[in-house]
Amino acid sequence: MTLEDIVSLCKRRGFVYPSSDIYGGFAGVYDFGPYGVELANNLKNAWWKYMVQRRPDIVGLDSGIFMAPAIWKASGHVDGFSDPLVECKACHNRIRADHVLEELGEQADEKMTEAELNELFDKHKKDIKCPSCGKKDWGQVKAFNLLVKSNLGNLGENWDEDPSYLRGETCQGIYVNFPNVVNSTRVKIPFGIAQVGKAFRNEISPRQFIFRGREFEQMEMQYFVEPDQEMVEYEKLRQYRWDFYKTLGLNEKNLKWHKHDNLVFYAKEAYDIEYNFPFGFKELEGIHARGDYDLTQHQKGSGKDLSYFDQANDKRYVPHIIESSVGVGRMFLAVVTDAYKVDEVNGEERTFLKLDPALAPIKAAVFPLLKNKPELVAKAKEVYAQLAEHMMVEFDDNGNIGKRYRRQDEIGTPACVVIDFDSLEDDSVTVRDRDTTKQERVKISELIMKLSK
Ligand code: GAP
Repeated sequence: MTLEDIVSLCKRRGFVYPSSDIYGGFAGVYDFGPYGVELANNLKNAWWKYMVQRRPDIVGLDSGIFMAPAIWKASGHVDGFSDPLVECKACHNRIRADHVLEELGEQADEKMTEAELNELFDKHKKDIKCPSCGKKDWGQVKAFNLLVKSNLGNLGENWDEDPSYLRGETCQGIYVNFPNVVNSTRVKIPFGIAQVGKAFRNEISPRQFIFRGREFEQMEMQYFVEPDQEMVEYEKLRQYRWDFYKTLGLNEKNLKWHKHDNLVFYAKEAYDIEYNFPFGFKELEGIHARGDYDLTQHQKGSGKDLSYFDQANDKRYVPHIIESSVGVGRMFLAVVTDAYKVDEVNGEERTFLKLDPALAPIKAAVFPLLKNKPELVAKAKEVYAQLAEHMMVEFDDNGNIGKRYRRQDEIGTPACVVIDFDSLEDDSVTVRDRDTTKQERVKISELIMKLSK
C-alpha cells in the first residue's frame, strides 16, 4: 500500500479533501469530509477520555487561537521558531534544507547555526536537484520563521510590524493559564492540563498529505510536577502514551521510540513515538521533559510570579513540565494506514478499513434488500431510526447489495444490516460482519445490544 492509495481512498470515500478543491487547492490545508470528521472526532474523543476523563489529576482547557503577541516573544517563537529554507535561483521554488540533507544521509538538527547549515548544504548542493525545475542552482540557507502573522486587533496600516499571531502550538495557552487553573480549581501538583485545538505554521514544504500541514490540530497535555519528580513522572507518561496507541488497536510493530540525541538547552529528555507511515517511520507524537523553561519564560515575559506553593510540604517552586503532544492529522493517517487491508472475497479483490469499531465513522449500515419494495424500505427506515438514537448509522438503498457492502467496507463500517422479506415475518435481520463477511440472523429487538458490543 502506498500513500497514494490512502489519499485516493480518503478523497473517493469522503474522508479528506484538498482545501479549496474547485479553485485548484490551497497548499498545506485539508478538509475533513463526512466520514473524516466522524473519525477525527472519534480520535479526539478517545484521546480526551484517556487523557482527561479517566485521569483525576488532569483537567481540560480550551484557550483562544489568538493570544497576546508578547506570549510568542517570551516562548522564543518570534526569534527562534524557524526551519532552514533554501531557494532555487532558477525557478524560486523553496524547500527545506534539513529535509533534503536528511535524504542524503546527513543529520541537520535544529541546534545548528545558519553558518553550519550553509557549510553542510554547500558540500552537497551539486547533488541536489530542484524538485520543481530540476536545476541545481541554490541560494543561501536562511532561517524562515514559521509563525503565521495576522492583523487581529491591529487597525493600523503597518500591522505587519506589530502583528498578532495565530498560535503555532496549543500548549502556550496552557502555560499562561497555569495560575488561573491553580486558583480556580482544586488541582494540586502533580497535575496536568489538556487541550485540543488548531495550530498554524508557515511550513516551507507541506507534504505527505495530512502529515505536515500549515493548519492542523494538536492534542496536547502539559503535566506540572515538582522539580525532582520530573523524570519519574516522565517515564510514567511515556508508558501511558505508548499504551494509548494499543487501545486504538494499532499494530505495535508499526510503532517505535525515537530518542532525541541533540536536546534543546532546557530539555531533560525527549522521545518521539514514531509510526510506520507509508513513507517510513516518522514522528507521530512527542513526549518531552521540558524542565522549568516554559513557566520561567512566562514569568520573565509577564512579570507575574508563576511559582507554586506546596502547602503540604511548605515549599515554593516553579513547576517543571512534561508534555505529550500529537497531531490529529498524524493520528488519523496512522490509524487509516494501519486499518487499510486488501483481501479477496468470492474471487474478487476487496479493500476494507479494519478500524476498531469504536473509531469507525459509521457503526452500522442499514439496507433494504430491494429498493423498489416499499414494505422493505419502510421496515429498513424503522430499524435505521431505532439505531440512530444510539450510534452513527447510515441508510443505503442504492445499487446492488454487493456494491453497498464494498462501499461500507471501504469506510470501515463494522456491520451491515439487511432487511429482507423474512424480516417482515420474523422481525429479524441479517447482520454481515466487515472483517469475516460472515452473516448471521439477529432479532431486531436484540440488534442494539449486539451492535453496541
Ligand atoms: N508543543 C510541542 C510541539 O508543538 P512539535 O513537535 O512541533 O511540538 C507536536 O509538534 C506534534 O504536533 C507532532 O508530533 C505532530 O504530531 C504534530 N504536528 C507538528 N507539526 C505539524 C504539522 N505541520 N502538521 C501536522 N501535524 C503537526
